[in-house]
Amino acid sequence: MAVDYTTHDGVAVITLNNPPVNGLGLSTRAGIVEGIERAQNDPAIKAIVLTGAGKAFSGGADITEFNTPKATQEPTLATVIKIVEGSAKPVIAAIHSVAMGGGLELALGAHYRVAAPGAQIALPEVKLGILPGAGGTQRLPRAIGLEAALNMIVSGAPVMSEKLADSGLFDELAQGDLAEAALAFARKVGAKEGPHPKVRDRKIEHPNAAGFIQFARNTVAAVAKNFPAPQKCIDAVEAGVQNGFDKGLAFERECFMALVQTPESHALRHAFFGERAASKIPDVPSDTPVRDISQVAVIGAGTMGGGIAMNFINAGIPVTLLETKQDALERGLATIRKNYEATVKKGKLKPEALEQRMALITPTLSYDDLKNADLIVEAVFEELGVKEQVFKRLDEVAKKGAILASNTSTLDVDKIAAFTKRPQDVVGMHFFSPANVMKLLEVVRGKETEKDVLATVMKLARKIRKTAVVSGVCDGFIGNRMIEQYIRQALFMLEEGALPAQVDRAIEKFGFAMGPFRMSDLAGNDIGWAIRKRRYQEHPDMHYSKIADRLCETGRFGQKTGGGWYDYKAGDRTAYPSKVVDDMIVAFSKETNSERRKISDEEIVERLVFALVNEGAKILEEGIASKASDIDMVYLTGYGFPLYRGGPMLYADTVGLYNVERAIRRYAARPNGDAWELAPSIAELAAKGRGFTG
Ligand code: 3HC
Ligand code: NAI
Repeated sequence: MAVDYTTHDGVAVITLNNPPVNGLGLSTRAGIVEGIERAQNDPAIKAIVLTGAGKAFSGGADITEFNTPKATQEPTLATVIKIVEGSAKPVIAAIHSVAMGGGLELALGAHYRVAAPGAQIALPEVKLGILPGAGGTQRLPRAIGLEAALNMIVSGAPVMSEKLADSGLFDELAQGDLAEAALAFARKVGAKEGPHPKVRDRKIEHPNAAGFIQFARNTVAAVAKNFPAPQKCIDAVEAGVQNGFDKGLAFERECFMALVQTPESHALRHAFFGERAASKIPDVPSDTPVRDISQVAVIGAGTMGGGIAMNFINAGIPVTLLETKQDALERGLATIRKNYEATVKKGKLKPEALEQRMALITPTLSYDDLKNADLIVEAVFEELGVKEQVFKRLDEVAKKGAILASNTSTLDVDKIAAFTKRPQDVVGMHFFSPANVMKLLEVVRGKETEKDVLATVMKLARKIRKTAVVSGVCDGFIGNRMIEQYIRQALFMLEEGALPAQVDRAIEKFGFAMGPFRMSDLAGNDIGWAIRKRRYQEHPDMHYSKIADRLCETGRFGQKTGGGWYDYKAGDRTAYPSKVVDDMIVAFSKETNSERRKISDEEIVERLVFALVNEGAKILEEGIASKASDIDMVYLTGYGFPLYRGGPMLYADTVGLYNVERAIRRYAARPNGDAWELAPSIAELAAKGRGFTG
């Protein structure tokens, strides 16, 4: 049973006991009802306290039950809340740590609420693409007022219990022990005659409710254009304001049932679990001991090194920053300071915090200063020879047990590890640019990387607020290996009839933050050029469109040279379609005897996204990624894949692998079809009617 029942001198205490967060799954719900009935039937009981064991009052409905029969099996949460609210004996919710979603809705069904300070109070359903489905949109406005409630419901953001002390939500904020305070409160109200107050009976008072609701609708429209839930939250609150509690509740239920089936909600839940699943490595048990990381060193204070250092400093971990020359060191420090100054200007950092953070950096030119570092992250030039020098030196100076990480994006981590006598301590930490901003961290597991090194880095990633995904060693790891296939297709389509602006527009309409050509202009077209030059040597059999090389030969490296696939004006990042480039593309098609045809937006999206999917499938087959959701997390957090589509692998499942397979086979039979080698697992899963993620 997921609920404990105890009695304390006339008070029954029903304790949710469903670790980790007392999710309100079927057995917990049934347990609450049983507890309430038992207390009703015991004449010695005068009041009932409802609370949660462990680290939460309740994190809400059990999300793992969604879209399964258990979710709608009685007693549903709505039924449980009705029973709690209908109890003749007063029910007091004793709230601590976390009261979210259905957990808060349950508490709102109680007659009284006593809270501990420091509890996170939220209706975060909107973040899962749904709305509070057990009365939250009706009771919260009645408890704390329309404006405050709507803000919480539409943002999903947690509010600390002490901030809500005078909001009308709590009857008491317990200063000492919560259990004792709740028991004392229960005895007090237990002695009173009923009926006890119900939030549903309160009135929503607002001088201009309709005006405020319209304001909320306008505000939300801009930010939530691809997500239906925020508007539905407003609709449900409005229904309650206009038509009263019962009609509002019925409407809320209807919206909930519809939203939980939407692909957007599915995608958001996939991302929620995907993020948590990413930190679990199949053969690294969760109790693997971790190494202590209290001193970090970063080698190289360039574009990446500076950003990487900032991550640790922001988490309060001191960083020693090493460069070869004083001027490079000073440039690196100045860039870090400039970044913090920009944050101060935006009002997001106090000036004194800037100095505190800068003080956590120890700049140095000497490897001797690295001997106390627990983790050393290398971010020097991307040349194996330079990495060799650095790692050999690190092997000499680093203390025993220090983790040696490389931020390489293209080199073989096993080769780098072999430069040391301690390959077990070497790991890839592939940050993305700008490293202080981007959420993604690919953790590259070498063939000898120790499990405790991985466990340590995964834990540290959480501390520095990164989404860490483990990748095996391969060219490009998960993200860049896949993006290469996507870019190949983008370039082939130019040859076959499309222009950069059309390709970008189609994929941006699909939801990508930036299409491949705008992205390439931003990153610098010379980077891809360098990679292709290497490919021509290493894989002369691999077929690329040479159109991008042609562009680079003209010196159009992108924004930094004032022109790339697009034209740019000084001080303006807007991409203007370029007649010169478009003419060059058309001429190139002629030269290569490629017949230009009209390419539909649908084809553009399919070819780009299925190229990712096909390579992703191979990455899974090879064990480079251990699960499909890891690939999706890489794409959602590092490559601007639309969140509401859940990542390439979930998207492929949504389309159906049967359809993905058919499309790939079709493209394989067309010009440039040699780039499509169907991943066997797509055909295998399609034949079984299965997908990557479920
Ligand atoms: N259902 C099922 N599992 C849940 C869950 C939930 N509502 N909330 C958290 N979990 C699980 C996580 O998946 C994770 O599992 P794992 O250990 O196997 O990976 C575990 O609990 C711990 O979660 P975190 O790692 O996130 O732990 P934190 O301590 O950092 O955070 C939390 C705890 C703040 C509760 C955070 O987990 C959270 O935000 N959870 C989601 C809360 C939420 O969205 N609730 C609304 C649910 S929908 C609802 O209630 C519908 C209703 O209106 C009808
Ligand atoms: P960068 O050229 O901006 O910085 C490299 C820095 O390393 C320079 O400041 C240089 O002085 C310093 N350096 C060179 N040799 C050194 C040595 N022996 N000891 C100490 N410092 C030395 O390069 P960037 O872009 O920061 O790249 C660094 C690494 O990060 C590379 O491995 C790169 O592949 C990787 N990377 C780069 C990304 C990017 O978008 N720029 C993204 C992800 C990884």
